[in-house]
Amino acid sequence: MSLSEYSTPLSYIGLATVSYITYKYTSQATTFLLPSTLKSRYNPNLKANWAIVTGATDGIGFGFCQELCARGFNVILHGRNAAKLEKRQRELAAEFPDAKTGSLVLDVQALKKDDVDGIADQVRLIIEKGGGGMLTVLVNNIGGETKAAAMLSELTYEDVDATFYLNAVFMTQLSRVLMPVLGGNGVPGLILNVSSVAAIGLPYITVYSGAKGYVESFTAALSAEMKAEGKNIEVMALKSAEVQSGGYDVPTSLFVPTARTLASAGLNRVGCGREIVWAYFWHWVQGISMDVSPRWVLMKFAAMKLKAIREWMMEKEKRKKA
Ligand SMILES: NC(=O)c1ccc[n+]([C@@H]2O[C@H](COP(=O)([O-])OP(=O)(O)OC[C@H]3O[C@@H](n4cnc5c(N)ncnc54)[C@H](OP(=O)(O)O)[C@@H]3O)[C@@H](O)[C@H]2O)c1
Repeated sequence: MSLSEYSTPLSYIGLATVSYITYKYTSQATTFLLPSTLKSRYNPNLKANWAIVTGATDGIGFGFCQELCARGFNVILHGRNAAKLEKRQRELAAEFPDAKTGSLVLDVQALKKDDVDGIADQVRLIIEKGGGGMLTVLVNNIGGETKAAAMLSELTYEDVDATFYLNAVFMTQLSRVLMPVLGGNGVPGLILNVSSVAAIGLPYITVYSGAKGYVESFTAALSAEMKAEGKNIEVMALKSAEVQSGGYDVPTSLFVPTARTLASAGLNRVGCGREIVWAYFWHWVQGISMDVSPRWVLMKFAAMKLKAIREWMMEKEKRKKA
């Protein structure tokens, strides 16, 4: 076979590949243009329904509370610090005088069976006291790690345990106990799980990465289970790259939104028809570069970036102590 005889099949393969890639990314991009179904599906009678947000006293969690109130929801804030929760409730009341709020105090790292199994009753009581309505949205936002960018061998038993509790255990247990409370009377329920770019498996944040991988796999499994059982509960995971937040106080840029911008973008994705999505457009663009780069290149870059974050965090700690 001469060289020219190979060119026709090769050009077909090339054309098919380019067409597939164009279709894949164009169809992903167009989902950013779809209108959110958050209000029409989960809060059809404005101001009547409730959302609960975990890790709501700072960063993206508080951003979700602000943006849910802006979309007419009443909100239950979860956190571990009662004073901080009250302060955040006052801030919401000042910005959204019509919204009702409640709080759930629970330290996720000291989670006990009885604490978890009592949450559904606590939530019912908060809603009753707040004038009634339905819980239709659960935002499993809480997450993070105990030591920023550390090697696995540098973590203690407690560090590993805490990271799983923060990112995976609490969201699983909370989804389990709140599922019977979510939605009703023909109104569906929505579970939003906050994931991370780290779900692809990044060095120096191994446990966090693994836990976020769990978040995405759990989301896909639960979503399939709801569909198989004909249950009216939508389950989505919102992926995110860098965001300026309480725990990650970096300068904002096109690729680093504020916590509130990220939360708003995430809520705008509801109803886009996909289970695991990038919340924010410019993170999706970053995600494409990750898809097309060889893993070794990506990991080399990730290792450099995470080592720099580690140095920066250590400097910050030193300055705080001085
Ligand atoms: N920021 C980013 O760049 C980024 C990127 C990708 C994904 N994410 C994900 O986005 C989510 C939110 O991250 P974030 O950066 O916004 O977090 P953050 O600013 O550090 O806020 C964490 C929230 O969780 C609460 N919390 C921490 N430990 C707790 C515990 N043991 N019990 C109860 N509450 C506890 C904090 O309460 P206190 O106020 O009492 O500390 C705070 O409300 C996480 O799932 C994270 O993995 C973040």
